[in-house]
Amino acid sequence: MNEKIQAQDLSAVSETMLATLYSHAVESRRPDALIHDPRAEELVARIDFDFARHQMGEDDQAATCVRLRQFDRFAQAFLTAHPDGVVVHIGCGLDTRFDRVDNGQVTWYDLDLPPVIELRRKLLEETPRYKMIPASAQAASALDLAWLDVVDVYPGKPFLFIAEGVFMYFSDAEMRRLVLALRERFPGAELIFDVASPLIVWLQNLSLARMKANFRMRWSLRRYDALEQWSPGIRLLEAWYYTSLKESIPRLQKLQTLFRLFPPLGKGMVILRYRLDQSLVQMEEQPMKDKSAVWRYVIAALVGAVVGGLAVALAGRLLPKMMDRMMDRMRSEFPRQMMARMQAEGCDPMEMCQRMMAEFRAQEQRE
Ligand SMILES: C[S@@+](CC[C@H](N)C(=O)[O-])C[C@H]1O[C@@H](n2cnc3c(N)ncnc32)[C@H](O)[C@@H]1O
Repeated sequence: MNEKIQAQDLSAVSETMLATLYSHAVESRRPDALIHDPRAEELVARIDFDFARHQMGEDDQAATCVRLRQFDRFAQAFLTAHPDGVVVHIGCGLDTRFDRVDNGQVTWYDLDLPPVIELRRKLLEETPRYKMIPASAQAASALDLAWLDVVDVYPGKPFLFIAEGVFMYFSDAEMRRLVLALRERFPGAELIFDVASPLIVWLQNLSLARMKANFRMRWSLRRYDALEQWSPGIRLLEAWYYTSLKESIPRLQKLQTLFRLFPPLGKGMVILRYRLDQSLVQMEEQPMKDKSAVWRYVIAALVGAVVGGLAVALAGRLLPKMMDRMMDRMRSEFPRQMMARMQAEGCDPMEMCQRMMAEFRAQEQRE
């Protein structure tokens, strides 16, 4: 009855879930606990694993638990807005967020790699509102995302996809494939995940190399709104940083000071909340079309004003000079030439005058 359950066939990345589980359990027992997670304490007691091997330092444990608390808050906010929504927890590990945020109405899916779900199923019960999916969210092609069919059975229901401590192990191509598939199939869905800057991923990989770990982090974001460029209909709604913490947590004080002093570190880890909405596409494209038309008019008006202004300025300087030259010639040469030609060509003054005026205009044009 009290026999412990073995954690078997776990990949090195999957094993990291035991470290986070243990940190939640240890934190939960502290008098100054940042989170209360009795389920984590219970699971740690039931799994046959040398957890002490994964004991985190005090500050790392506090940081991990603050992250969990913020993810819980985001999930709770989603459920407050959509009490009967559907939540898909990607890379759930042994986390029991469902127990912590369940509102009695949500339909919840915990998804992770098959060996992890196998272990979960030995520890936790599925119910009509709580289910598990053994699958990989890392897709080499769209076909690998067949698990989407399992959850795509609630037409019109609001969806939340949430992934904590997972996407940094994916490649950029895998992330794009996943995000675009979610956007396509779940209009209006929210996607909440954590990600780090390239600098932090580089630092984390240095420390993984030092620990001789056989996996590395791969995905990072230089700009946290970068997903918006992947396709229309993707909107960044919120970004949460450790520096967003209003309270002072004694165990995090050193880290918080470091983060404040070096913003690239302070802003190097973030939880992002995105909206994926294909229906936004038309709304976005329409104003974009209108905007570009307005801009075309504005640019044409500006160019017109500049060219017109130059023309007026030029004409203002040249025209008086031309008139002066014309008047000078008419005053000095015109009468003398006219008399001479009238005699030579034998025509009357009026005819001669018209002929000379025409020649004069032609010459002006040539000049
Ligand atoms: C650091 S653990 C985090 C677990 C849990 N989210 C938490 O915060 O305690 C990373 C988790 O991502 C899962 N994971 C890694 N690659 C995955 C994939 N391709 N599909 C689904 N889950 C994956 C691992 O099995 C592991 O449970």
